[in-house]
Amino acid sequence: MVSYKEIQDSNALVNDATAPRVSVFVGGTSGVGKFTIRALASTGASVRIYLVGRKSSEEPTRAFIQELSAINPKADIVWTEGEVSLLADVKRICEIIKEKESRIDLLFLSAGYAPFGTRKETSEGLELSQSLEYYSRMLFILHLLPLLRQSEAPRVISVLGGGMERASIKVDDPDLKQPGNFSAIKGQMQYIALNSIFLERLASDNPDVAFIHSLPGWVNTGNARRGWDEGSILARVFAFVVESLIFFFGFSHEESGQRHLFESTSAAFGGRGIPWGGKSGVNSLGKSENGLFLVNHKCECTPNAGAMAKLREKDQGKISEHTKNLLQPYL
Ligand SMILES: NC(=O)c1ccc[n+]([C@@H]2O[C@H](COP(=O)([O-])OP(=O)(O)OC[C@H]3O[C@@H](n4cnc5c(N)ncnc54)[C@H](OP(=O)(O)O)[C@@H]3O)[C@@H](O)[C@H]2O)c1
Repeated sequence: MVSYKEIQDSNALVNDATAPRVSVFVGGTSGVGKFTIRALASTGASVRIYLVGRKSSEEPTRAFIQELSAINPKADIVWTEGEVSLLADVKRICEIIKEKESRIDLLFLSAGYAPFGTRKETSEGLELSQSLEYYSRMLFILHLLPLLRQSEAPRVISVLGGGMERASIKVDDPDLKQPGNFSAIKGQMQYIALNSIFLERLASDNPDVAFIHSLPGWVNTGNARRGWDEGSILARVFAFVVESLIFFFGFSHEESGQRHLFESTSAAFGGRGIPWGGKSGVNSLGKSENGLFLVNHKCECTPNAGAMAKLREKDQGKISEHTKNLLQPYL
């Protein structure tokens, strides 16, 4: 475990020279993304943060943006409105960012939830949470990679379930459309594996970029209440149980934000960033070099070698091809 003290000591070294000067947060209107933005702004460094969120969150986010400006007058928060579950809108948002920036240092992706209720599809025909947790995230990366490559220490973080991959996925039904293939648990496990499979492929094609698939641990963000059908009694019972457990065993908002700032800035993952005197992070191929890092809630690398080897051998080709074909019209 990387201790909280080590995390705080490392984050204390984030300044104008070492901070991700330009970052894009998708999912930063709430939860882990929001806490990480607060931690980043609190360093006092001169940063520009694109905060991407849907129209309905603009008003509630205004107070947060004011808070950030008060904490750090050198933080330039650029509210960027968009419906990130829709791939056509992801493309539009990325075009806006590409027009304004020539370089991005950090892309932080955390929109989503487990699909507890009945299957809901976007107007583009994708299961809503799969779009948020997988396709939309991968599309943001593909669009913004040319800008990330211009950074000295580019980093992409997808917050979901790194290290939790199971060896067996529905490779012939990646979108879980066949009867019996879809449920909250099956969905989350499929989307976790898809993230790692595709991110690892991107990491191999882009050796200068550090990719992290983070498992945030338990953090009370209201996430357990999302994804349910309206008025569900089960939802209330579930939220009560999960939130009680999180209360006793979860991370505080502050610590979650600091841990993810560490993941966003430390040289522990790939060698670039704030110097790290501890054990070097090991990527999904078991090497201490750039690549895909599966990072757990303790900020430890958990390569999940057995499952990842099987996924790599059996499914990576098919899943990567399917994903690229599905995203192609939006590139
Ligand atoms: N929190 C945990 O304990 C935990 C544990 C393990 C894994 N995870 C996973 O880690 C990721 C981040 O978790 P979190 O707790 O930070 O999440 P969160 O606070 O519940 O939500 C994160 C973001 O998702 C966006 N979002 C949700 N539904 C949306 C929709 N239909 N359309 C557009 N945006 C939508 C939210 O936007 P709005 O603000 O507009 O609603 C918010 O910005 C999630 O994928 C979650 O499943 C979380």
